Amino acid sequence: MKKLVALLIGGAFVVSASSVFAVESCVKCHKTMDKVAENIKKSGAKSADELVDFLRNKSAKKALHKSVKDEDIKKAFAEAGKK
Ligand code: HEC
Repeated sequence: MKKLVALLIGGAFVVSASSVFAVESCVKCHKTMDKVAENIKKSGAKSADELVDFLRNKSAKKALHKSVKDEDIKKAFAEAGKK
């Protein structure tokens, strides 16, 4: 029983810590979400779909973003917009 409670608390902590303004797959390279937000702003994308299109097709850095999921790009856009 104790083990189960510990697992639940541990799990809740991991979930809340990672959802506090951070998209793991972006932070891996960009270090902070502030940097990601800054880049997103500079890209001029006005919607999550535009940002996906930009990173997939238009950016000079598109090769670097092949491994990131559309889902994560959209999440990052939403997070950046909150600032
Ligand atoms: C494999 C490493 C890597 C990953 C993963 C990564 N990036 Fe990047 N990204 C870079 C590098 C390197 C640059 C260029 C240097 C810079 O501006 O920081 C860059 C640039 C950018 C730019 C500006 C591109 C331009 O052409 O102006 C945006 C926007 C961006 N990243 C968003 C994201 C988002 C959102 C994620 C997560 C879904 C992400 N990146 C994940 C490495 C990465």
